[in-house]
Amino acid sequence: MRITILGSSAGGGFPQWNCNCANCAGWRAGTLRAKARTQSSIFVRPDDGSDGGPEATEGILFNASPDVLEQIRSNPALQPGRRQRDTAIAGVLLIDGQIDHSTGLLMLRERGQPLPLWCTDPVYEDLTTGLPLLNVLGHYCGVRRERIALDGAPFEVPGVGGANGLTLRALPLTSKAAPYSPHREAGVPGDNIGVTITDNRSGRRLFYAPGLGEISPAVFDAMASADAVLVDGTFWTDDEMIRLGLSSKTARDIGHLPQSGAGGMIEWMDRLPASTRRLLIHINNTNPILDEDSPQRAELAAHRIEVCEDGWTLEI
Ligand code: MLT
Ligand code: MN
Ligand code: ZN
Repeated sequence: MRITILGSSAGGGFPQWNCNCANCAGWRAGTLRAKARTQSSIFVRPDDGSDGGPEATEGILFNASPDVLEQIRSNPALQPGRRQRDTAIAGVLLIDGQIDHSTGLLMLRERGQPLPLWCTDPVYEDLTTGLPLLNVLGHYCGVRRERIALDGAPFEVPGVGGANGLTLRALPLTSKAAPYSPHREAGVPGDNIGVTITDNRSGRRLFYAPGLGEISPAVFDAMASADAVLVDGTFWTDDEMIRLGLSSKTARDIGHLPQSGAGGMIEWMDRLPASTRRLLIHINNTNPILDEDSPQRAELAAHRIEVCEDGWTLEI
């Protein structure tokens, strides 16, 4: 399968519009070696050997970020020219109902047909109550909502399935629903999911979980049986936002497992099979790993952990 990293940043992007942390200020001043990043989203399609263009293969958009229009402009594979109005997005799958993953749906409203949308019941509830984006879209293209089951049952997105396509399986995660969710303080299974994507032709697997607060045995199993993991890279330390005076909450409080420290993502990744490709995505603008010359970035490299950049294409 071919994975395009459309956006590798957490909510707010990098640099964030109102932020003067060392990373954001350093990027603006040109004194920091770091890449700007748009908000969290990937596009996955079966590998047909093409680079997009008019005959591009369709794929699945995982999350619809507020930056989706810029992301489509920058990635021609999402913009084939087979008809007067065209897209390579066969369907959209949401891993949660947070702003950074869902508000781009509004930007896709010019579709001629209802937008095929896969999400869990709790995310559907959030997006029809606390943040009623789907009701609003009903006045434009509308959505054809498909329910994601939480029992790990395999499912496909029509146009991207079959013998040469992709099979998807969802796993409920401990992370966090959005502040406007009816389940913000008392989470329910399905507020956040991870997805295992299998290429039916090669059998190769990706585990994708940009919001991951805790690695349960089931999550570790899913990570260990994948050829590549593309997981939560939001924060380096648990108290990153507190130390910067930007929040009173820890990384874990808001559903993100930090990379460093006891029980952090680096320790978990060290336990994966040697052949597993390890990638971080959904990186917050405060995270020191954005600085390509930082000791934290060198530490990740020593553990063979990669930091995703916008525009990367991964062949898994
Ligand atoms: C999160 O995952 O915690 C979000 O990126 C927060 C946000 O979008 O404001
Ligand atoms: Mn987020
Ligand atoms: Zn910042």
